[in-house]
Amino acid sequence: MNFNLSEEQLMIQQAARDFAQTELLPGVIERDNQQRFPHEQVKKMGQLGFLGMMVDPKYGGAGMDSISYVLAIEEIAKVDASAAVVMSVNNSLVCAGMEKFCNEEQKLKYLQPLASGEVIGAFALSEPEAGSDATSQQTTAVDMGDYYLLNGTKNWITNGGNATYYIVIAQTDPEKKHKGINAFIVEKGWEGFAIGPKEDKLGIRGSDTHSLLFTDVKVPKENRIGEDGFGFNFAMAVLNGGRIGIASQALGIASGAYELSLKYAQVRKAFKTEIINHQAIAFKLADMATSIMAARMLCYKAAVEKDEGKDISEIGAMAKLYASQVAMDVSIEAVQIHGGYGYVKEYHVERMMRDAKITQIYEGTSEIQKIVISRSIVKNSK
Ligand code: CAA
Repeated sequence: MNFNLSEEQLMIQQAARDFAQTELLPGVIERDNQQRFPHEQVKKMGQLGFLGMMVDPKYGGAGMDSISYVLAIEEIAKVDASAAVVMSVNNSLVCAGMEKFCNEEQKLKYLQPLASGEVIGAFALSEPEAGSDATSQQTTAVDMGDYYLLNGTKNWITNGGNATYYIVIAQTDPEKKHKGINAFIVEKGWEGFAIGPKEDKLGIRGSDTHSLLFTDVKVPKENRIGEDGFGFNFAMAVLNGGRIGIASQALGIASGAYELSLKYAQVRKAFKTEIINHQAIAFKLADMATSIMAARMLCYKAAVEKDEGKDISEIGAMAKLYASQVAMDVSIEAVQIHGGYGYVKEYHVERMMRDAKITQIYEGTSEIQKIVISRSIVKNSK
């Protein structure tokens, strides 16, 4: 594995860093307070190519590699984890799945505007009774000939209110269990499709999370993704890639909290010296730096293997499991290093601690990542 970043990758990293500092940082505290979606900033992210980073330019994407994607998400999440999840969902769960599995017509109609950032997308798998246990889909799509009739409720959907196109997973034949699940592209505004109220969340409050309600929504047959019964395997394949995005978001939260703590420790004085000179603080920073580097290496390895076309289910799960734990641990320590200042909003680290928690929950909880990893290591040991 080559650890040197190419010139192009370094340029993308720098562009994301500049964007985060100039466009995201100024309003991030207010957006968190007011639960306000970063509309203007997301639009600019689209113009910079950050919403369809790995998509072929012929479908409106930026045609970059997965390492560039990890680098960009880390930089964005260092400053604004809410903007980072908007980016991760659009890139990994929506665009990547469409590019790999949709037909040409679907790509031209839906992928193009999504990858170019003209509109954003959402991925609707979770339900009130089906979070971790994703095969227990209660949303149904009944085959009516030239369309499916979609009924049910989806929960905790990132980009739920602001998306234009939604990938919706539904059960079409309960007897076939997960082989009777399909994925559909659904458009906002279709009759019978309602968006529930915005969730009032602990963290990533700048992103919008909603339930989605489908009552007799007519979904044209041509909006099914892949062969009949492919929906669950589609969702799993998409989530394998998505976990790299969330791992990178977690990495960004951790490195953002660490960088603020390192700076603070070199100016804040206690007992007549900067607190970095106290071993109690210096050792915390040493632990933070080490775990962040390890998380970063896992993200890079997962990204490289994805671009090599390898099965990334295990390494993607490892990256997410580890990076999300690092985000939690590091952000808690960041608040501790900042002391009383860490507990107030102005210093950013309390937000980072709140934002970190979701990375252990969405796109597969840490417990689900352990199921994925343990099944894989057992399979590979035979
Ligand atoms: N990669 C590829 N295929 C996989 C897979 C993976 N990681 N995990 C399972 N599969 C495939 C299996 O091979 C099997 O396919 P075949 O029958 O064709 O062989 C099929 O899926 C069913 O697998 P299992 O029998 O293992 O199913 P299970 O019910 O025992 O467990 C699970 C599956 C891994 C626990 C799965 O339910 C899961 O990943 N759950 C978590 C769901 C999740 O991540 N939800 C997040 C919601 S999205 C979100 O959060 C988005 C957001 O807004 C940010």
